[in-house]
Amino acid sequence: MKRGEKKAFLWIGISVAVIAAITITLEVQHQDLQVVSILKDAKDAVSMHKHGGSINIPVGIEADDLPDTESRGATMLTLYCAQCHELPPPSMHTAAEWQQVIARMKEFMRLRGGGMLMRTITPPEKDWAILETYLATHAQVPLDKKHTSDLDTPAGKAFQEICSQCHGAPSPDTHTVNEWPRVVLRMKSHIIRTGKTMPSQDVLMQIIEYLQKHSKTS
Ligand code: HEC
Ligand code: HEC
Repeated sequence: MKRGEKKAFLWIGISVAVIAAITITLEVQHQDLQVVSILKDAKDAVSMHKHGGSINIPVGIEADDLPDTESRGATMLTLYCAQCHELPPPSMHTAAEWQQVIARMKEFMRLRGGGMLMRTITPPEKDWAILETYLATHAQVPLDKKHTSDLDTPAGKAFQEICSQCHGAPSPDTHTVNEWPRVVLRMKSHIIRTGKTMPSQDVLMQIIEYLQKHSKTS
């Protein structure tokens, strides 16, 4: 190879390297901006919840308190679903609601995890079904309107209105007379935490009585 040719090759090599470096820098910057904007959305969502806004952020539970702790589903939930907020309990939604929540979370994870900057780890596409089945198995039981009476009484209406603010109204026959007051007390603390509509003590008592009247018998 002549000296001139060598020089030409060298210059071509340098040019290619420079173009590649510029392309990568621009691409990273673009990704960075995208990541920053999604991070900001997530942060806004969290601060809104702190200020009594209406966006739901899951109340965290401990991984050890998950149902079926040793299962793949529980492991996946712990690994993937506590990266942006606390670990969501499977009982906070019905199976149908989980499908919608999962679709939204998938989108958040795609936006934050795709491309060159891996900010969130995302399950392989084939494994999502395991997580979905796990959530569906331990999901909340929805109200069966056809087989529940007194729904159009004032107490029945208050129950449906107040108890469907974060999840669908639940089935009254999933708890006993003695269990319901404790469950409702816990819901009261979720209402305070999220700034949702709190009924008067009087209405809350009516809701508890409604739930007890239609509760599980044993
Ligand atoms: C990339 C960040 C991110 C990851 C990872 C993530 N979430 Fe979320 N999640 C959010 C944001 C932001 C919100 C609040 C806005 C909203 O609900 O759309 C939220 C809200 C929620 C809520 C409350 C909203 C509701 O409708 O009750 C639940 C439940 C939830 N996530 C479950 C999950 C599950 C299950 C996973 C794992 C598959 C997961 N999240 C992974 C960002 C994330
Ligand atoms: C501010 C949001 C919010 C409101 C309003 C709310 N819940 Fe819940 N609910 C949750 C969350 C979060 C969970 C999962 C964590 C837990 O069980 O405490 C849940 C879980 C449940 C469960 C399944 C867990 C179990 O112990 O069986 C039932 C049943 C339930 N709620 C009933 C009710 C009833 C009845 C009302 C109305 C008095 C109500 N919820 C109102 C947030 C809410």
